[in-house]
This record gives sequence, structure tokens and C-alpha cells, in this order.
Amino acid sequence: MSKKILVIYYTQSGQLEDILNNFTAPLIEAGNTVEKVRVYVANDYPFPWNGKAFFAVMPDCVLSVPTELKPFQLKENKYDLIILGYQAWFLSPSIPVNSILNDPAVKAVLKNTPVVTITGARNMWISAMQRIKKILKDSEAKLVGSISLFDKHHNFISFITIFYWMFKGKKGRWLGIFPKPGVSDADISKTGDYGKTVQKYLIGANFDGLQEELIQQKAIEVKYNLMFIESKASKIFAIWANIIAKKKKKTAWLVAFFKPFLSGRIKKQKQLYSGVN
Ligand SMILES: Cc1cc2nc3c(=O)[nH]c(=O)nc-3n(C[C@H](O)[C@H](O)[C@H](O)COP(=O)(O)O)c2cc1C
Repeated sequence: MSKKILVIYYTQSGQLEDILNNFTAPLIEAGNTVEKVRVYVANDYPFPWNGKAFFAVMPDCVLSVPTELKPFQLKENKYDLIILGYQAWFLSPSIPVNSILNDPAVKAVLKNTPVVTITGARNMWISAMQRIKKILKDSEAKLVGSISLFDKHHNFISFITIFYWMFKGKKGRWLGIFPKPGVSDADISKTGDYGKTVQKYLIGANFDGLQEELIQQKAIEVKYNLMFIESKASKIFAIWANIIAKKKKKTAWLVAFFKPFLSGRIKKQKQLYSGVN
């Protein structure tokens, strides 16, 4: 029997939309009614980003401050499944996705409804997902599946290439040398397999065992080294976001916080520690 599915998301570059289109293709093929709602922010963030705008969103991401969304309509009052596309910003749910989850109409349809979340991250999505789990629980939604796609290149490489992508707006190979940033095309097209898995469970409206099967398919994978870095960094972000939020000259404080990541200080420190002087 045909089921009603809501797919709701925000995306800047369109990566998350590509992911969701691949993921939902088997669900559409199976004859379900799939309503896709791409949500926009009233005063959208620049894409490509500039440095000031990029770092300025950090406190609101970390402190879950929502922003105004452009009005959007949901066709139904009740869905058989909601697919939520989200992205992590500063180890937190992005401001747009946090705002979507805060929207009264979304909250209403989330109640008592199975939800599958899917992200397209650089590689640090765990803390954001833990917070989304809590928001969904508070809305009395039933999280039945969690899928995480991320850049599989080395953490250092993906850190460099994502800046090229975010600040140039092109998901291309920087200098023709670095790999393409973000989620690989192969991983994006593989999401169709995860969609097929969801379809199997959706037919009987019984999602017991779905997440275990998604884990077997490697639809979600926790990398220990990244988990370790992320747990330390998210604590530091939380402390700083609280400090910066109380300051009048927020930009100056943000510059002070992010300077070590942007300047040559880390490089110099590495040279010092690996040298003999
Ligand atoms: C302001 C900002 C902060 C980000 N922080 C993170 C992060 O903490 N962890 C991560 O894995 N990706 C991070 N990303 C990458 C996004 O999660 C996402 O992969 C990328 O923005 C593409 O998503 P899109 O579909 O909205 O274009 C960040 C991106 C932006 C713009």
C-alpha cells in the first residue's frame, strides 16, 4: 500500500538534496507519495561564505538559537514516515535544521511519527546527531533510522578541502591536486540501497531491526579517532559560545577564538615541538 512520506531539509550547496534524491528514489519507485520540502532561511547565509559570516554563526549553532524561515506548507497533517535531512555546523545541528525542528507545523507532524535522519557531513556529525535525537524525543517523534554520510578522506585533507568548497562555492578539486570535498559521488549514489532497506520496513509499518540493517550496510559508521576529537572540541565550543554570546564585540572575540585554526600558529608550534631548539 502506498505510504505518505515527508522529506524535509535545508541545503546550501545542494549536496543534501542530491543525497535525499538518491535515497528516496526507491521509495518513489515503490509507489509511495513522497513530498519533498526544501526549506529556506528568511535572511539566508552567504554561499560561498566569507570568513566573518562563517565564524559568526558559531555561537547560535552551539546555543541552538533558531532563525526565521521562509514560509513553507506541509500538504498533510500526518505522515507514515518523515525523512529529515540535516547538516552539522560547528558540531551542532545547523541553525536552519534547528529552526525547522522548532517550527510548530513540523513539531505537530513529528509527534508519534517514525523518523529517519540523514546527514551529509564533513566528518563530525556525532554531537549534532545526539542533539537531534533529544529534540526528536522532546517532540515525541520515533527515531527509527539514522544515516550518516561523510567525507572519507583524512581529517586534515577534508578540513582543507571543505574550506575551499565553502569559500569558493565549488565542490571541485582544489589546485587539481586535492580530492573533491564532501561526500563522494559513490557514497551519494549508494544511498539508494539504504532507501530500499527503509522501503522493506515501511511496507509493514514495523521498523524493528531497521537500524541494525543500516549499520550492516555501513549507512552509519563511527570512527574512533574522530569521535575522540569531536568530544573534546564540542566541550570547548560550548564554553566559548557561552562566553562570546555575552560579549558586545562578538566579532573580535570570534576572531580571537578561531585565530589558531586559521593562522600559521599551529604550523609554527609543530615546527617548534618537532625541532631541537
Ligand atoms: C558554518 C559551517 C560549519 C560546519 N561545521 C561542520 C561540523 O562541525 N562538522 C561537519 O562534519 N561538517 C561541518 N560542516 C559541513 C556541513 O555539515 C555540510 O557537509 C556542508 O555544509 C554541505 O551541506 P549542504 O548540503 O547544506 O550544502 C560545516 C559547514 C558550515 C557551512
